[in-house]
Amino acid sequence: MPQPLSAPATLDEVLAHGLAELRRGVADRRHGFRTVNVASIATDGGPDVRTMVLRAVDPVARTLRLHSDVRSGKIAQIDRDPRVMVHGYDARSRLQMRLRGHAVVDRAGALADAAWAASQPMARLCYAPDTVPGSPIPAAPLPPATEEAGARAHFAVILFRFDMLEWLWLAADGHRRARFMWDDGADAAASAAPAQAMWLAP
Ligand SMILES: Cc1cc2nc3c(=O)[nH]c(=O)nc-3n(C[C@H](O)[C@H](O)[C@H](O)COP(=O)(O)O)c2cc1C
Repeated sequence: MPQPLSAPATLDEVLAHGLAELRRGVADRRHGFRTVNVASIATDGGPDVRTMVLRAVDPVARTLRLHSDVRSGKIAQIDRDPRVMVHGYDARSRLQMRLRGHAVVDRAGALADAAWAASQPMARLCYAPDTVPGSPIPAAPLPPATEEAGARAHFAVILFRFDMLEWLWLAADGHRRARFMWDDGADAAASAAPAQAMWLAP
């Protein structure tokens, strides 16, 4: 989808635009946000990042859903330190989004069960191998799995909830950058309305 003919004019419009583009990434395989870069904190305290398919966006709960093998490094990292950043760039609309927040891993709960039930047989096979992702193997590639047995136990949902969203829109008549922050106190209910919204120098 190309950029809108006129740039979002107000901060409310900017936020709505950013969230709509994220949702478009879930629905449109060719959209830049179909995959996002998910950064977490490695066990040695350094940064780590990887590409992941964006599975679902809930703009009211402010959550992104991602799928992973439970045995992968990112799961251990998130279990240890749930702070996560998600980055995406859609070249067609020249829009970069950076989201900061916290992630939780659901292995056997309703969220993981529902995502597993909705996933395609081909996708399920990715979780079948006994070989732990990231472990050394004698030679590549591993033969592809053909049986789903055992796969469900290796599958997890990562639910990422953002409390900061930064939108950067590149345009010939002037780049535009805006930041939105939500105040997630211990007992704060999810709120779609940000506590702070501001334009930033790009
Ligand atoms: C286009 C693309 C999409 C990917 N999607 C996912 C995904 O949805 N979930 C996932 O766990 N890994 C996905 N990967 C693989 C990850 O980038 C990463 O290599 C793998 O999950 C191991 O990461 P970790 O060791 O940091 O956990 C994808 C890779 C590419 C190139």
